Amino acid sequence: MTIIEKEDVLRILTPEKCVALMREAFIGLETGKNGQPLRNIAIMPNGAKFGFMPAFIGDQYFGAKVITAQSKNQGTKYPTHMGYVMLCDQEYGSFIAAVEASSITEIRTGAASAVATDELARKNAAKMAVIGAGAQARSHVSAISAVRKLEEIFVYDVSTENAIRFKDWIKERFDVRVTVSRSAAGAVANADIICTLTPETKPFLSLDMVKPGVHINAVGAFMSTARELASDLVAASKLYADQIEAVLHESGDYLFPLNEGAISEGHLLGSIGQIAAGAVSGRTSENDITIFEALGLAVEDVASAAFVYEIYRKEQEGNHAPNS
Ligand SMILES: NC(=O)c1ccc[n+]([C@@H]2O[C@H](COP(=O)([O-])OP(=O)(O)OC[C@H]3O[C@@H](n4cnc5c(N)ncnc54)[C@H](O)[C@@H]3O)[C@@H](O)[C@H]2O)c1
Repeated sequence: MTIIEKEDVLRILTPEKCVALMREAFIGLETGKNGQPLRNIAIMPNGAKFGFMPAFIGDQYFGAKVITAQSKNQGTKYPTHMGYVMLCDQEYGSFIAAVEASSITEIRTGAASAVATDELARKNAAKMAVIGAGAQARSHVSAISAVRKLEEIFVYDVSTENAIRFKDWIKERFDVRVTVSRSAAGAVANADIICTLTPETKPFLSLDMVKPGVHINAVGAFMSTARELASDLVAASKLYADQIEAVLHESGDYLFPLNEGAISEGHLLGSIGQIAAGAVSGRTSENDITIFEALGLAVEDVASAAFVYEIYRKEQEGNHAPNS
């Protein structure tokens, strides 16, 4: 079995390549080429979470992201999340690779939002607000730069230190104006694209804060108990999912407004794979507010791991080819 660590994942899975891969993965999920059985998260006696997120990709691979989450690791030399995407070949079920998972999660999440941004944001969208300046902020700027010509990025983080570090990171890599904002409201006021990338559990983005025509990638809250978006914003927007079933059952950004009566069942218009496949329409007016609700899917992880494995294997074969 081949073990592929973070450095090789970061080298092989570039944002541009991952955006194309995620588009294919989303379409495959809608056509039945790809699929994902239910995930399972077991709680260990000491409180550690042990997650198993399986998927199949076409007729060649299946696999699962297998991770542990241990919050008491915070402040120690051990990360709070660790894991690998285990990759198997479909024919025999043999384990062929273990690919480091946190780097895959980081890259594929920004790439998934970039697919949604490409489908849903206005074509001339050039100003982007990023709320939460952590790992996902870096991934989102890298991937969304591949689908829109960004001219200005507004950053807000509860930690000004994190916001400034992120500004410096962007300035080293991209030719774009960057403004550190003092509030979420200040950051989003002029934005054409908003990415909410925080571990916040209570809504901080409401309708009065955003411009008509904005596209929002809502990524931070990925459980039924957490939300980033206020009910009035969700109610006034066209809402799309990474996967319909997942959002109907697991998204606080959808379930809170539904339970409050602000939206009805049917408010969720479709998935990004359906839009990419041409089965569902997305933005129909320059003034539509669109939301991509991303919970994170196992097909994104397994498709990314399969891609990394194939390139890595070719590189290894090239290195071992006899000199001619
Ligand atoms: N949907 C998905 O597929 C997916 C995938 C990966 C991560 N996530 C989630 O996205 C979120 C961000 O992930 P990350 O890896 O970037 O985390 P991170 O810890 O690297 O960064 C989070 C940043 O948000 C800031 N923050 C916290 N509360 C805030 C608030 N109310 N307003 C503004 N900033 C705030 C923190 O100071 C920090 O800088 C997490 O909740 C994570 O679980 C979702």
